[in-house]
Amino acid sequence: MTESKATNITWHEGRVGRAEREAIVGQKGVLIWFTGLSASGKSTIAFTVEHALVERGQLAYTIDGDNIRHGLNKNLGFSAEDRTENIRRIAEVGKLFVDAGVITCAAFISPYVADRQAARDVIGPKDFIEVYLNPSLAVCEERDPKGLYKKARAGEIPGFTGIDDPYEPPTDPQLTIDTATVTPQAAAAIIIGLLEERGNVPARST
Ligand code: ADX
Repeated sequence: MTESKATNITWHEGRVGRAEREAIVGQKGVLIWFTGLSASGKSTIAFTVEHALVERGQLAYTIDGDNIRHGLNKNLGFSAEDRTENIRRIAEVGKLFVDAGVITCAAFISPYVADRQAARDVIGPKDFIEVYLNPSLAVCEERDPKGLYKKARAGEIPGFTGIDDPYEPPTDPQLTIDTATVTPQAAAAIIIGLLEERGNVPARST
């Protein structure tokens, strides 16, 4: 539990509710939380979902680990404590996006079960979809789009997830997708199908 340092603060209730915002955009906000090893396809699929939804006139946004670490979370590294704080902040940001009525994708390794559970608790279980991308480490390492596994194997990145730092798989994700065999387009279609079923976005009328 993060200690609250602020005192003398008051919560102000706005005059507009989530439902009014959602009515404007014709959808129901939700957080799709992608978890998996580096190079498992989180960003690729998140951006594919975002693009496909925007193309059909829905409001979607992707919060991506590498990108967020350039700004909001640039003061965090990869210790267990910093990864926990990384995920805590993203959960809070995600909560604002969901309250704004946005279909939000979060693409973070998020290696710890407890941190993902805390994110689910912040968002609320009914607005949280956990998507586990589970290609094997060998597949991720073979892809190595940023050359980071190679560096990690050479001892140049101590504490790299999957090499010498843990990844705790989800025990009960809503979706598990093996991106060794499922293309990003197919994965996005599965996820958007689920959003339609849940009523987050209207079903396509074609
Ligand atoms: S998380 O563990 O805190 O959820 P996050 O998703 O934000 O990680 O960032 C992961 C990205 O940071 C990786 O895709 C990789 O590009 C980069 N990275 C740099 N160092 C590490 C490391 N030690 N472990 C994992 N990823 C790292």
